[in-house]
Amino acid sequence: MADDDVKVSGDGARSPSNATNGGAPKNGKKGIGIIVKEEVEAFRAEMPGKVKEQIESVKDPTKTQLYTSIFRHKRDETPRNRALGVLSNVFLHLHPAKINRDSVRYPYTWGMGGITFYLFIVLTFTGVLLMFYYHPTKVQAFRDVLYLEHDVPFGKILRNMHRWAAHLMVIAVELHMFRVFLTGSYKKPREFNWNVGVILLVLTLLLSFTGYLLPDDQLGFWAVTVGTNMARATPLLGNEGPFGSQLGMTPYNDVRFGLLGGSIVDANALLRAYIWHCIAIPIIASVFMIVHFWRVRKDGGISGPAPVMLASEADKPRRAQSAAGA
Ligand code: HEM
Repeated sequence: MADDDVKVSGDGARSPSNATNGGAPKNGKKGIGIIVKEEVEAFRAEMPGKVKEQIESVKDPTKTQLYTSIFRHKRDETPRNRALGVLSNVFLHLHPAKINRDSVRYPYTWGMGGITFYLFIVLTFTGVLLMFYYHPTKVQAFRDVLYLEHDVPFGKILRNMHRWAAHLMVIAVELHMFRVFLTGSYKKPREFNWNVGVILLVLTLLLSFTGYLLPDDQLGFWAVTVGTNMARATPLLGNEGPFGSQLGMTPYNDVRFGLLGGSIVDANALLRAYIWHCIAIPIIASVFMIVHFWRVRKDGGISGPAPVMLASEADKPRRAQSAAGA
């Protein structure tokens, strides 16, 4: 059999007439081209399913089981498929499948909510890196800051990124609130989200305030002294506030004492500021941000400007407009 093949292939290959009759020699025997083709077809017919699948997958990877198990539908440009693409992806589904183009334009939102969130991410990242160098104790805190400023590679830029992002976050959150106010987005159905926003504003300010004490320098010390002295005058809860003394508040049990962990700004205050700043407030703020973003979607997405319409269009009856494809 093997010898036959060799002979046929030898004849076929050498015969000049093969060029015109598709590789079949004149003597009636099959040419090499036909034999090879037949053998390939026979092999294909017997080919186990897995090998077949492997060959197909090289030809078109989108048909493999692996691909279809990850991407559940085709990638054609129909609105339905595009929506499904967003909804079935863990990251993309955080965004709505469809949005009003006008409502996400920068001239409308100023991008300030997004920028505030972005700054929060920058602060979390740089803050975690700062935690590798900082100890919240009276002996070490200020030395750590000096060490960061002068000796740690990229320490100065790390610390300043954190400081500047903190200042910018306070500015951005206020501008965001101002934009929401100007566009009337605090009104029904967004009143609840406005209140969530107010809590986020307070948390942002508290993050800033607690961070101020951490370098344990003169600036932070006196800022916290003044700030917590105000707590003394809190109604009901401060020993100098209205109804405070009647309720039994003293410098040793009132809200100021609770904030500082004592009656003066000292080691306990530093430790408390550190824990509020690095753990408690960021966690609470993250939870409120999740609620805030979720609520933006549940309230029908970002409010959006009034639809632009010509005066003539506004006069037309609705049905006539939709028939004209408006
Ligand atoms: C950490 C602070 C905050 C973050 C990260 C944040 C983030 C966002 C983002 C990303 C949006 C989507 C629209 C946009 O970017 O303008 C939004 C919408 C909104 N925010 Fe904030 N926000 C914060 C604080 C506040 C504050 C302080 C208020 C008000 C007191 C507020 C009230 C609202 C309202 C009512 C909406 C819906 C606006 C609309 O539908 O047009 N947010 N926020």
